[in-house]
Amino acid sequence: MGKLEGKIAVVTGGSSGIGLATALRFVDEGAYVFITGRRKDELDKAVAQIGENGCAVQGDVSKLDDLDRLYAIIGQSKGRIDILVANSGIMEPTTLQDTSPEHFDRTFDINAKGLLFTVQKALPLMTNGGSIVLVASVTSIKGVPGYGTYSATKAAVRSYARTWTRELKDLGIRVNTLSPGPIDTPLVKARTKTEEAADQLRASFSAAIPLGRMGTAEEVASAALFLASDESSFVAGIDLPVDGGMSQV
Ligand SMILES: NC(=O)c1ccc[n+]([C@@H]2O[C@H](COP(=O)([O-])OP(=O)(O)OC[C@H]3O[C@@H](n4cnc5c(N)ncnc54)[C@H](OP(=O)(O)O)[C@@H]3O)[C@@H](O)[C@H]2O)c1
Repeated sequence: MGKLEGKIAVVTGGSSGIGLATALRFVDEGAYVFITGRRKDELDKAVAQIGENGCAVQGDVSKLDDLDRLYAIIGQSKGRIDILVANSGIMEPTTLQDTSPEHFDRTFDINAKGLLFTVQKALPLMTNGGSIVLVASVTSIKGVPGYGTYSATKAAVRSYARTWTRELKDLGIRVNTLSPGPIDTPLVKARTKTEEAADQLRASFSAAIPLGRMGTAEEVASAALFLASDESSFVAGIDLPVDGGMSQV
């Protein structure tokens, strides 16, 4: 029997990378999974991989109407949510000097504001005993050049997990943060123009990681499974780094 048998899960940004690996793992463990994302073609490809125990609802987490539509669909079809993984996020490398108001607003709108309303609007459907996993980043506690605005959004996410752990206690909902280190996903490729540049980036990340390599989306999905399942029933308000020791050693 799987660890999530009969559970209803939502994974935002479930069409790619960490979110897709998490959705696939949850379905393997017996859950039904709703995934979201903006690009329909990516969602279609993901659902083809996930199979009959998943479906996609196209939408942008920074648009409140899209979130309302997502939860209306889930409410009508399943009536509840047991697990929410707020994973959607963007990263646009930008130094302080180059930061524009548009970059700031876009990054905060998706990574921080979008995440807040993803959680707030899910609450009426969340079950007692439910688990919320917020995907942050080890950059929330590091000073990485070019990651300033992104890291600030992830520090906000980590902070929300602390407050919401207390605020949602009486609803029987646990909240935890998961902080990946450098993980080899399309997010990394999107940062570089050529395959050679992507390999250089991978090499420089690997050199900074005590385990000597980047992580895989599946390794982050294993940690998400732990936080989502009853295996972590007495774990609340934490930040779980999945980073090959990068933020710890
Ligand atoms: N990869 C890493 O090294 C790393 C490290 C630390 C933390 N993280 C975090 O892990 C999460 C997943 O990253 P990833 O590496 O798996 O990246 P990815 O492969 O680019 O996946 C990002 C997912 O989020 C979705 N998304 C982006 N903006 C969205 C929006 N406004 N509304 C709805 N969905 C949106 C994307 O779909 P659409 O673009 O189609 O909307 C996609 O499904 C992010 O929060 C990221 O910050 C990643």
